[in-house]
Amino acid sequence: MRAKKNNTHKNKKPQPAKMQQEILELREWRRRLSLLLNYAKKISAKKELDSLLKLLVEVARSVLRADRCTVFLLDKNNNELWSRMASGEQIIRVPANTGIVGETVSRGRIINIANAYRDPRFNPDVDKRTGYHTRNLLTAPMSNNKGEIIGAFQVLNKKSTSFTVNDEKILFVFAEQAATAIENAQLYEDIRTAAKDTIFRLAAAAEFKDRDTRNHLERMSRYSAILASAMGMPKEWAQSILMASPMHDIGKLGISDSVLKKPGKLNEKEWSEIKKHPIYGADILKDSENELIQMSSRIARSHHEKWDGSGYPQKLRGEEIPLEARIVALADVFDALTSRRCYKPPFHIKDALRIIKQGSGKHFDPKVVKAFEKCLPKIVKIMDEFSDNMFE
Ligand code: C2E
Ligand code: SIN
Ligand code: SIN
Ligand code: FE
Repeated sequence: MRAKKNNTHKNKKPQPAKMQQEILELREWRRRLSLLLNYAKKISAKKELDSLLKLLVEVARSVLRADRCTVFLLDKNNNELWSRMASGEQIIRVPANTGIVGETVSRGRIINIANAYRDPRFNPDVDKRTGYHTRNLLTAPMSNNKGEIIGAFQVLNKKSTSFTVNDEKILFVFAEQAATAIENAQLYEDIRTAAKDTIFRLAAAAEFKDRDTRNHLERMSRYSAILASAMGMPKEWAQSILMASPMHDIGKLGISDSVLKKPGKLNEKEWSEIKKHPIYGADILKDSENELIQMSSRIARSHHEKWDGSGYPQKLRGEEIPLEARIVALADVFDALTSRRCYKPPFHIKDALRIIKQGSGKHFDPKVVKAFEKCLPKIVKIMDEFSDNMFE
């Protein structure tokens, strides 16, 4: 109607209505641009996957004026799509071959639906479950760098209208960003798992010479992380000590079996050989550029130092001893005391506790002993969970 009317005017100037429309569009682009610029900085600062996805979902919603936004991940094992991040709280799970989201994933194409309930592909089950009413929806596939589809990025219910072709282009960019973030997190996780596996295998090689269980490593690394947290150290640091501590005795690889496995007391010569294991360990782990390996080198070198300066190999005292080594010293001794060794039976936990407390300010940093007493229930839980007697 309006077009007809406009044509009848032979006026060169844009019609007020059209101009109005263009101004509105420009304003909308300006709004989008400033939102995106605002968020761009925040997004590049996010390292953690969940907080990054949360931000992407939030930006996508406000830029596209959508009511909801959901990131679906493809779970190939169960042939399901599940919502890794949704602006509505509930986790949504749908069979991978149903609904618009299923269609997007199987076709690898953006799907833009102006009226959900008129589209036969739409699966109203999710609405039924969530009590939400979907009017319109725009869904973009997410793929990894091999081009395999890993999920979908979906926005629902654009305010007042339905999604446009420009919205499709923008959603495509969000989907790419989210896919990259997810893939990077996955790669990072793989590397972490590989590193942890390597560390434990390497450390177990040293332990194997000495005693026959991985449980000691599992226990003392967890004790160390618990102590670190109880002392108020950041979560990341506690995570680092968990990864770095298993290698504390790696230097025992350089000690002869006849000494390590001697059932009784060591003579002076044997004892002086044993006392070299911290230096051997520190040497094996030295000069790495990796912070975790650097930490494990410090732990290997200094886990037999004592707070009062009477330890070995350097007779460090007090805070000259790196904190990570002060923590591991206690975790290691507590585990040695409560375990069977070729040279000693396991002590009852009460006796172990007494020895630790008596060592406060002498063998151990009093602050570490305090933390130990504070989190004893957690320690005991780990002790039971990774008990050596499991299969006896
Ligand atoms: P480990 O068996 O892992 O013991 C680690 C630390 O736990 C010991 O460091 C010691 O501080 C503490 N610990 C272990 N058993 C006892 C105990 O019965 N009483 C008390 N108060 N503390 C205990 P340490 O003494 O520097 O020993 C380092 C490593 O030398 C030990 O590691 C073990 O591999 C070896 N070792 C120490 N004593 C003997 C021994 O009498 N015979 C043999 N075969 N090896 C020994
Ligand atoms: C669909 O994709 O068909 C439904 C998904 C949803 O409403 O979130
Ligand atoms: C030793 O001096 O022979 C070993 C001392 C100890 O087990 O702590
Ligand atoms: Fe040791």
